[in-house]
Amino acid sequence: MARRKILDAFSGAGGAAKGYRDAGFDVVGVDIAPQPNFPYEFHRGDAIEFIRAHGHEFDAIHASPPCLDASALTAGNRKRAGWHDTHADLIPATRAALADVRARTNIPTVIENVQGSALRRDLVLCGLTFGLKVFRHRYFEIEGALVLTEPHRAHRGHRVAGWRHGIRYEGNMVAVYGDGGGKGTVTEWQDAMGIHHTDVRAEIAQAIPPAYTHHIGDALLAQLDTLIAA
Ligand SMILES: C[S@@+](CC[C@H](N)C(=O)[O-])C[C@H]1O[C@@H](n2cnc3c(N)ncnc32)[C@H](O)[C@@H]1O
Repeated sequence: MARRKILDAFSGAGGAAKGYRDAGFDVVGVDIAPQPNFPYEFHRGDAIEFIRAHGHEFDAIHASPPCLDASALTAGNRKRAGWHDTHADLIPATRAALADVRARTNIPTVIENVQGSALRRDLVLCGLTFGLKVFRHRYFEIEGALVLTEPHRAHRGHRVAGWRHGIRYEGNMVAVYGDGGGKGTVTEWQDAMGIHHTDVRAEIAQAIPPAYTHHIGDALLAQLDTLIAA
């Protein structure tokens, strides 16, 4: 049987894409910036326009739009999460474009964003759940499919290593954000996130661990036959 195809909108260098590929999807990425390290088929352009023009050609769509006006996000958190202040909040426009595609095709869609963003929390994932050395909480708003939540493991006993307010803390968790000064080597970042197809710190810092989308991708693939026939 032909492999299922997912669109990864706002793909970055492909942290999310790698997880969907690991689950068994063919992945096509779209991003406004060139992404030479994106490992699969890639289109440079505006993600919302691409969703509107081509979304119906896919079996599922994932989107990681920039979002900056979430009140719970302090400037520091935004910076750590990899967002930059020049980005507009594209969550509402992304939702609208995905809803238009769903109205035509019935395919499942997933929007991902940082903790504190204005997404519905159908699923909240943490790196500890997957044995990773990053906490990296992410929200997922999922339409058209059921993805079971994973039990959240307490952070107690785990601490992020690095400098905070002039003090060096030891810890078993890795700080994958910012410029990496004193926070760990690139190899430590790659291992902590489970991303080895890029060694560019900024790309790893913006990504989500592939384990998250592998988990979601497994659930989507298990339900796709029923969903698309409906
Ligand atoms: C946080 S990154 C996504 C990271 C990705 N989910 C991963 O796991 O590697 C957000 C991306 O949105 C892209 N972006 C911002 N505005 C965009 C737009 N209008 N169309 C397409 N991409 C856009 C940025 O270039 C950036 O790569």
